[in-house]
Amino acid sequence: MATSAILAIDQGTTNSKALLLDMAGRPIARGQCAIECHYPRSGWVEQSGEALFQSVLSAIDHCLDGHDDVDILALGISSQRESAMAWSARDGRPLGPCISWQCRRSQPQCDALEKAGVSSRVRELSGLPLDPLFSAAKFRWLLEHVSDECAVADIRLGTVDSWLLWKLTGHRLHLTDLSNASRTQLCDIHRGSWSAELTELFGVPIRHLPEIRHSADDFGTTASGLGKLPAGIPILSMVGDSHAALLAQGGHDSRIVKATYGTGSSVMTTTGDQPVEGRGLATTVAWETDQGRVYALEGNVTVSAAVLPWVARLLGLEGSVERLGELARAADPQGSEILVPAMVGLGAPRWVGGLSALMDGLTFSTGPAEIALAAFDSIVFQIRDVVDAMQAAGRARDLPPLSALKADGGASCNDWLMQRQAEALDLHVQRARFAELSALGAALLAGHQHGCWRAPDAFAAVLPEHDDFSPRDAAAFKPRHDQWLRAVARTLHGTP
Ligand code: G3P
Repeated sequence: MATSAILAIDQGTTNSKALLLDMAGRPIARGQCAIECHYPRSGWVEQSGEALFQSVLSAIDHCLDGHDDVDILALGISSQRESAMAWSARDGRPLGPCISWQCRRSQPQCDALEKAGVSSRVRELSGLPLDPLFSAAKFRWLLEHVSDECAVADIRLGTVDSWLLWKLTGHRLHLTDLSNASRTQLCDIHRGSWSAELTELFGVPIRHLPEIRHSADDFGTTASGLGKLPAGIPILSMVGDSHAALLAQGGHDSRIVKATYGTGSSVMTTTGDQPVEGRGLATTVAWETDQGRVYALEGNVTVSAAVLPWVARLLGLEGSVERLGELARAADPQGSEILVPAMVGLGAPRWVGGLSALMDGLTFSTGPAEIALAAFDSIVFQIRDVVDAMQAAGRARDLPPLSALKADGGASCNDWLMQRQAEALDLHVQRARFAELSALGAALLAGHQHGCWRAPDAFAAVLPEHDDFSPRDAAAFKPRHDQWLRAVARTLHGTP
C-alpha cells in the first residue's frame, strides 16, 4: 500500500527546501536548493523571482526522487515574508526583481509618510512600525518602476507565497494568507483584510493585491509540467516562515515563546484571539484557520549569532565559533566585560539606527576569554530584553506568564549557550530536536485543512521533541544583566 504524506515547501532567503512527512510527522525525504541574493547598490537587496521558483521546483525534484510510490495528500507552503514581487497577469513574467525584506530602497517612500505625520496611524492599523522592511513601500517602488509596456490592469503584486502559488497553479490563482498579508503593512490586522486607508496612503491599489484567505485553506491544485511534482495535488496551506516555526514549536499555547538563533533572531509568542501591543514589538497575525484567528507579538534582534564569527575573527580564531565557545567557557562567568553589538543599530525592543557597537567594562584582567563570553552573552541578553517586553505586554492584558522559551536555529546547537539563556531568563529553555520547523508548521496547517491532523489535539502527537535546560542559579545572573542594561544606555546616549 502506498505511504500517505504531506509535502511541505519552505522557501527562505538563502535556500528553498522541500520535505515529505509521513502521517506521524516523520520526514520521509527532503530536498534543498540554494538561492542567490544580489546587491545592486548599497542597501539594496534583491532576488530573481524566476530563480526563486526554479529553486523550489529543484528542491521538490530532489525530495521526490525515488519516492514515486508516496501518495501526496496535500502541499503546504511556508515562505520568507515581506519580500515583494510584481508580475504580469497576461504572461506571468516578473515585472522587476523580488525586492528582499532586507532591502532599504523604499526608505524615501517611508520618509515621505513619516513627514506627512501618518506613522502612528500606520502602526495602529497594521500593527507594524513604518519601515522599508515591510512590503507596502516596496510595492509602491515596484509600481513606480515597472516597465510601461505592461497594461496597469495586468499588474499583479504579491509576497513570495503569492508568487509561488501563481506559478504552482499554472498562472491561475492570485491568493495569499492572513499571516503573510499581515506583514505587508497594507492589512488592517483588526479586521483581517486589506485596509482602504493604508493602500491609499502607500499608493498601492487593492485591485493589484491578492485575495486574502486563511492560512489553512483551499489554495487550488498543482498544475502539470512542474518537474516531478504531480498535477492535481491540493495546496492546503500558506504561512510566513517564522509563524510556521512558532506553530511547530507548540505556539498554540501562548505561554510559549519561540526564539530562532540565526544571523538575527526572531522572537515570537501568540496572544490568543486579540492583538496585543508591546513596547518595541510588532503586532501581527500568527495564522488563521477555520478555528479562528491567532495574533502574535514579534521582536526581531538584528545582530544575534552573526556576532560570533565576527568576534572569532577579531580574536584570531580564524572565525571558528567552536573555538570561541571553548574560550568563553574559560572566562569568569560574572566578569565585567559587555559587548553591545549595535553595528547596524539595535533592533527590538529598542529600534534605534545609526549606532556603532560598544565594548564596555574592560580592565587589565580582560583577556580573549572575557571578550568571547561577552559575544555569547550579547545574544542571551538581547533575547532576554525582547522576552521582558513580551512579558510586560502580556501582564498589561492579563495573559498568563511565559513558561518556556523554545529554541531553534543554528546557534541553538550549543548546550552551554542554551543553559546561559535559561539562567538569564529564569525560564526553561527547550531546544527542538528537529530542524525543519517552518516546513513542519506548513505541513501541520495543510494536514489540518485536509482533516488528517486536526488542531490542536492531533498536532501534539506530531510536534518535535526537545532538550530541556532548566535555570539553576538565575539570581547570580542579575548583576551582569544590570551591567548589560547600563552598557546599552551608553550605546544609545553616550557616557552619562
Ligand atoms: O521576515 C523575513 C523572514 O521571514 C526571512 O526568513 O528564514 O528567509 O531568513 P529567512
